[in-house]
Amino acid sequence: MNPKQIAAEKAVESIEDGMIVGLGTGSTAYWAIQKIGERVRDGLSIQAVASSTISEDLANELGIPVIPFADVETIDLTIDGADEVDANLQLTKGGGGALLREKLLAANSRRFIVIVDESKVVDTLGAFPLPVEIVPFAHELTVRKLQSLGCELTIRQKDGANFISDNGNLIADCRFGSITDPVTLHTQLNLIPGVVENGLFVGLTSQLIVGHSDGRLTIR
Ligand code: A5P
Repeated sequence: MNPKQIAAEKAVESIEDGMIVGLGTGSTAYWAIQKIGERVRDGLSIQAVASSTISEDLANELGIPVIPFADVETIDLTIDGADEVDANLQLTKGGGGALLREKLLAANSRRFIVIVDESKVVDTLGAFPLPVEIVPFAHELTVRKLQSLGCELTIRQKDGANFISDNGNLIADCRFGSITDPVTLHTQLNLIPGVVENGLFVGLTSQLIVGHSDGRLTIR
């Protein structure tokens, strides 16, 4: 079993009958959704909220009941991957471009379990370019403001055109190199007009499950 699958399947053990479950996005969350589908086939009764159209489509294929986020007061448990996680369980997310909905789910969940393989564990965030979702209107101005915070920036591309998020926005991948104060940077980014949300997840993680290539799991 690969380390992502090991971590994902461990997290899915925390799901109980009657829960509203948040579904993350990405290649690690994929394994969690697969396992949830298996448990639903075996009789688990849950309702799910998806953080992307990709995850919603996968859940539908697997027979997991998906409800609109607007119908939900609070999510009991969200399980999602991350691009980087540090010793304080602070994350960078958004490599798959779903950071806004992922953050909406995480921030409205009683528990947020993060599942990663060991390659995602870092001393300091920032080697992975930080995804920032920005509105297309006058995005050149927003880009200049972001660059003034000290990053090298590229607008994410897909199939030769700008990548468009599920929310109709652009993703600016901001290479800071090292993010020593994620709390301050998070605030600075979100204060820029034109920025919708950024991929720093601070103070949201309830539990971290790391899958290792030798088959071990570590849980914090
Ligand atoms: C999606 O937008 C991201 O936040 C993913 O959760 C993150 O990039 C982790 O993805 P993988 O599990 O595919 O590495």
